[in-house]
Amino acid sequence: MNAITDVTRDIQAQILDAFNFRHATKVFDPTRRIDDSAFETILEAGRLSPTSFGHEPFRVLVIQTPEKRELFREFSWGANGMMNGSSGQLGTASHFGIILAGTARTMAAGSEYLQNHYRTVKQLPDEVIEGFNGAYGKFQTVDHGITTDREITDWSGKQAYIVLANMMTAGALMGIDSCPIEGFDMGRTVETLENHFGIDTTRWKPAVMFAFGYRAREPEFPKTRRTMEDTVTWF
Ligand SMILES: Cc1cc2nc3c(=O)[nH]c(=O)nc-3n(C[C@H](O)[C@H](O)[C@H](O)COP(=O)(O)O)c2cc1C
Repeated sequence: MNAITDVTRDIQAQILDAFNFRHATKVFDPTRRIDDSAFETILEAGRLSPTSFGHEPFRVLVIQTPEKRELFREFSWGANGMMNGSSGQLGTASHFGIILAGTARTMAAGSEYLQNHYRTVKQLPDEVIEGFNGAYGKFQTVDHGITTDREITDWSGKQAYIVLANMMTAGALMGIDSCPIEGFDMGRTVETLENHFGIDTTRWKPAVMFAFGYRAREPEFPKTRRTMEDTVTWF
């Protein structure tokens, strides 16, 4: 009994250490690259994330070619170093990318993507697929009122953020730094993905960018959070 308690305590400490270690890294050490197997683990943590109905309404783009990354520099103020006079996460991260969220064309009930997902990924028989279509249709239109393209894309984006959170935690557990990035012009990012990455942005829109690597220096400011009492209410 004691042995199990000690192991559990050790894991609790490791988890909290990882969460305290993680911070939104502004500048990475450009000479340090994340080992391939460690980055695979980060991607696996993302791929294995839960999603509503198991629909996986996201895709992950990993952008390693420097010229491709530079395409985002001008309008990605949250990643271009303009806040700290560096080349930013775009210029220094070992791995940089964008998580895309499925639009209404991809994720509305009855879509071609979903029928294919039920058949080939979930391997569901036709009668179960029919049930899924009905239940998900009701969920979208009645339960949650997610009907416009924007609403459906935002709903997909919610799942994308869970994916990124898991990726960042997986990284932190391995001593790998990261930054979630929303500081970009949506319109110009869509344009760039369409024109330079062959993404059909009527089906997939950017939700959030990410950067992974190793910090160049310790965070400038200590971590601040509201107190537990101010954050959590028990009933
Ligand atoms: C969805 C999201 C978007 C963010 N966008 C940016 C960004 O564009 N650039 C940046 O440097 N930090 C960004 N951050 C980092 C936050 O500013 C940071 O997480 C917050 O201030 C708390 O600090 P900590 O993560 O270091 O504990 C983002 C965080 C989240 C969750």
